[in-house]
Amino acid sequence: LHVAVLMGGWSSERPVSLMSGEGVAKALEAKGHQVTRIDMDRQVALRLAEAKPDVVFNALHGTPGEDGSIQGLMDIMGLTYTHSGLATSVIAIDKELTKQALVPHGIPMPGGRIVRTEELYKGDPLPRPYVLKPVNEGSSVGVAIVTADGNYGNPISAESKGPWQEFDELLAEPFIRGRELTTAVIGDRALLVTELRPKSGFYDFDAKYTDGMTDHICPAQIPEEITEACKQIALRSHQLLGCKGTSRSDFRWDDEQGVEGLFLLEVNTQPGMTPLSLVPEQAKAMGMGYPDLVEAIIAEAIK
Ligand code: DAL
Ligand code: MG
Repeated sequence: LHVAVLMGGWSSERPVSLMSGEGVAKALEAKGHQVTRIDMDRQVALRLAEAKPDVVFNALHGTPGEDGSIQGLMDIMGLTYTHSGLATSVIAIDKELTKQALVPHGIPMPGGRIVRTEELYKGDPLPRPYVLKPVNEGSSVGVAIVTADGNYGNPISAESKGPWQEFDELLAEPFIRGRELTTAVIGDRALLVTELRPKSGFYDFDAKYTDGMTDHICPAQIPEEITEACKQIALRSHQLLGCKGTSRSDFRWDDEQGVEGLFLLEVNTQPGMTPLSLVPEQAKAMGMGYPDLVEAIIAEAIK
């Protein structure tokens, strides 16, 4: 096959996407496919038209590669591409829209609300501890945990350092104590549950992409009931949102509350494909190496 690998772009996750894209491109070359690497810029439509690929592997993360924009462009161009389509991407990139789509179907997600930054300066929007996050970023970019005495323990102000300096509005959610879990879906199958134990206590950007900063326990050493619940919620959410190819659902689990303490945080429609990423790790634990995973994602796109 001739595969165009779309990567890079200008989101805050550009470096992550370049790692994902290069991994995918190398794997495809090793499998004997013809690869055109495309670092997405404003001329991407021309580059795609010129390349005339059989299929596009979308290795972009964030805006505009994960939010429906590039999907709409490729729909108009009549291109076959991996991962989710336009409508799914528009909803899944937005953590608040995702809740509106999934909670009515019984998917457990944390409460919370959107707050404007000015509101934060007047006082806490929720009882501490709570989490502030941009609705449409990935890799924990712009996420803060506001605790009574932690880094963000001081009153939030225009001068204090935090994501409120960069975003006009943020999603405030109650912080769920306990454990960080994730489950990949490929095709119509939920794979495994991985527990992430960041040594710093916070699975932030550095803990995600610096080797040795987080222990990955795959499969997670958790009760069977929780494993099954994660897999069921991940698969159901993938289906409800209309995800294609692959997705990865991220959870927090309050292990003092049993299954009642399990909450889906979000569904990632363009999950990372870097050397430390979780979908490749789960695939590998199930006997599917990285190049086979890349081909499996392409097979889902062209079937
Ligand atoms: N947003 C990153 C790439 C992920 O979900 O893996
Ligand atoms: Mg994400």
